[in-house]
Amino acid sequence: MLIQVADAPEYDEEASTVFAEGWPEFIFHDAVAKQYNERRGQYFPEWEFYYVSAERRLLAGCWGVALAWDGSVDDLPGGYTDALARAVTSYEAGISPNTFVLMAAAVRADQQGQGTAAALITAVRDHAVTAGLSQVIAPLRPTLKTRYPLTDIATYQTWTRADGLPLDPWLRTHVRLGASVLAPAPASQTITGTVAEWEEWTGMVFPSPGTYTIPAGLTTLSVADGLGTYVEPNIWVRHA
Ligand SMILES: CC(C)(COP(=O)(O)OP(=O)(O)OC[C@H]1O[C@@H](n2cnc3c(N)ncnc32)[C@H](O)[C@@H]1OP(=O)(O)O)[C@@H](O)C(=O)NCCC(=O)NCCS
Repeated sequence: MLIQVADAPEYDEEASTVFAEGWPEFIFHDAVAKQYNERRGQYFPEWEFYYVSAERRLLAGCWGVALAWDGSVDDLPGGYTDALARAVTSYEAGISPNTFVLMAAAVRADQQGQGTAAALITAVRDHAVTAGLSQVIAPLRPTLKTRYPLTDIATYQTWTRADGLPLDPWLRTHVRLGASVLAPAPASQTITGTVAEWEEWTGMVFPSPGTYTIPAGLTTLSVADGLGTYVEPNIWVRHA
C-alpha cells in the first residue's frame, strides 16, 4: 500500500536508516541538487511515499517531482539534478506540470528480489495519472552498471539478454512494466569534492592524480588538482 510520507511520520526514523543503505555515500554530495532539495520538500510533499505491507511493515520508499515536459527527447531534463532544478524553478514560475518524474526508489535489503519495486512503481505511476500527471518518466540509476564502470552509458543501455530484456536488472524491472528507454543521461549528477572527502566517501586512498574505479560507481572518478569529480550516468525511461 502506498502512503504519503507526510501522513506517516511513524516510519521516518526506520526509513532513514533502511533506505540510506541502498546508496553510496558520495551520491548525497551533489552540491547543485542540495540547492534545490529543501524547496523540493516544500513544494512537492505529496510526491514522497512509503510502501507498506498489509501488516503495515515498511517495505520500500520513493519520491519524485512534477514538471512540464513536451514529450520529446530534446525537451528532457539533462538528468536527475536538472529535473530537480526544473521542477523547483517551474513551480516558482507557476508553470503547470504534466509529467511525474520518479527520482529515486529503494526497497529494504531483506525484501529485494521479490517484485516489491514493481508493485511500488505500478502504484506510484497509477497515482500520478490519477492526479493528472499523464506522463511518467525516470532518470534511472542502472544497478548493474557498477560492474561496467568503463562502458559508455549509451552502449550499456542497449545491452540485452537472450530473452530480449535489458541486461540491467533495474532497467529490466521498468521495461517489464511497459517502460521504454528514451535516452542516455550521461551527466545526470555531478559530484565534486576534495581528495580527502572522496577518501572518506569511498574508503579508498587516491595518492596520485588520475582515473579511479570506485565502489558503487557507475563510472570512474577523476582526480586532479586536489579535487575528485564524478559524473553519474543514468538512463531516461518513459512509462506507458
Ligand atoms: C533497485 C531496487 C529498487 C529493486 O527493487 P526490488 O524489489 O529488489 O526489484 P525486483 O524484485 O523487481 O527485482 C528487480 C531485478 O533485480 C534483481 N535483484 C533484486 N535484488 C537484487 C540484488 N540484491 N542483487 C542482484 N539482483 C537483484 C532481481 O532478480 C530482478 O531481476 P529479474 O528480472 O531477474 O527478476 C532495489 O534493489 C534497491 O532498493 N536498491 C538500492 C537503491 C537503488 O539502487 N535504487 C534504484 C535507483 S533509483
